[in-house]
Amino acid sequence: MNISQRAQNIQESPIRKLTAIANAAKKRGTTVYHLNIGQPDIHTPEVFYQKIYDYEEKVLSYGPSDGLEALKVAMVNYFAFFEIILEPKNIVIATGGSEAISFAFNAVGDPGDEVIVSEPFYTNYSGYASQCGLKIVPVTAKAENGFHLPAISEFEQKLSPRTRAVLLCSPNNPTGTVYTPDELRAIGDFARKHDLFLIADEVYKEFTYDGKVHFSVLQLSGLEDRVIVVDSISKRYSACGARIGAVISRNESVMKGITKFAQARLCPPTLEQVGAIGAYELPHDYFKEVMAEYQKRRDILYSILTSRQEIILQKPEGAFYIMAKLPIADGEIFARWLLNEFSDNNETVMIAPGEGFYKTPGRGKDEVRLAYVIETPKLERAARLLLLALDQFKG
Ligand SMILES: Cc1ncc(COP(=O)(O)O)c(C=O)c1O
Repeated sequence: MNISQRAQNIQESPIRKLTAIANAAKKRGTTVYHLNIGQPDIHTPEVFYQKIYDYEEKVLSYGPSDGLEALKVAMVNYFAFFEIILEPKNIVIATGGSEAISFAFNAVGDPGDEVIVSEPFYTNYSGYASQCGLKIVPVTAKAENGFHLPAISEFEQKLSPRTRAVLLCSPNNPTGTVYTPDELRAIGDFARKHDLFLIADEVYKEFTYDGKVHFSVLQLSGLEDRVIVVDSISKRYSACGARIGAVISRNESVMKGITKFAQARLCPPTLEQVGAIGAYELPHDYFKEVMAEYQKRRDILYSILTSRQEIILQKPEGAFYIMAKLPIADGEIFARWLLNEFSDNNETVMIAPGEGFYKTPGRGKDEVRLAYVIETPKLERAARLLLLALDQFKG
């Protein structure tokens, strides 16, 4: 019996597909430093767990499909800090930003419709798109340009009668680029001119460095009907396992459609929503220390990598990733070799091959994505292992 084309063709996550060989290396007793995945080691705020311990209901029942009202109110208050005025009805709580992206894709297009995305992009967009039959149409952002958005004329070249939306991510995974208000205004005008939705993945909104400030598409005026924001607590509160995200939009039809998708999967996890309420109630100061820690990590990784001229990279402005061009032909072969063959003092490093972050065939083969989510002594060791490995790699 055959499985569906969709199940056959969906791409394996480049972030996770080497996990089996990493586990084999660990079984052999090798320490593996994970630079492949955006799993921070920052502790989840204590108040998240406390709220769950204090939960007194005798039955862990289904909650509302669109999420607990108290969590939505906590989010409304949180966004008000950034002068983004929302109402609870503008929010549907999702099972992670991942489900929020699926909801947004399903709301804007039917199978065969197209979404224009600036590449390199968060690789799982491809997975969500193939699940709902949407086609991702890439425009390529260039490292020389700090991976900022390509010219609007390049987006225009990608338009077709099936184009339904533009999707962007700022601060960006995998490049760390933070788009400027002018860039976002220009892309907003493009969406308006061509009657498209503008989906913005802002799950890293708090993580910007060197005094840069994140500008949200929710702050663009005149686009209220087109904008759909993907949000999540995974990185914000280092709560990846909670699986709590949200879709935010002021477009009532979009929210009505998404609420029906949400009903079909009943509800997001109740206890983790309760924990999330506690996290959202933290004073905003909470982020100061976290941001300073990530900036320190970025600086360490950046300075070690830039000690080699043959490594080409941009200093990330936000999020916690670096996309680096290495003197190798194939990032996946290198990543496998690191886990299967290389070790120094019984330690090695795991990286995400760059190709999976591109849609255009052949692009990103000599690139890798590195996540600076581990504490500084480990990060420094991991970066130095990478340099040592490059000296030894003959691929
Ligand atoms: C850009 C981006 N969007 C969405 C997600 C999904 O996050 P989650 O489903 O954990 O909320 C991630 C996770 O790494 C991400 O990097």
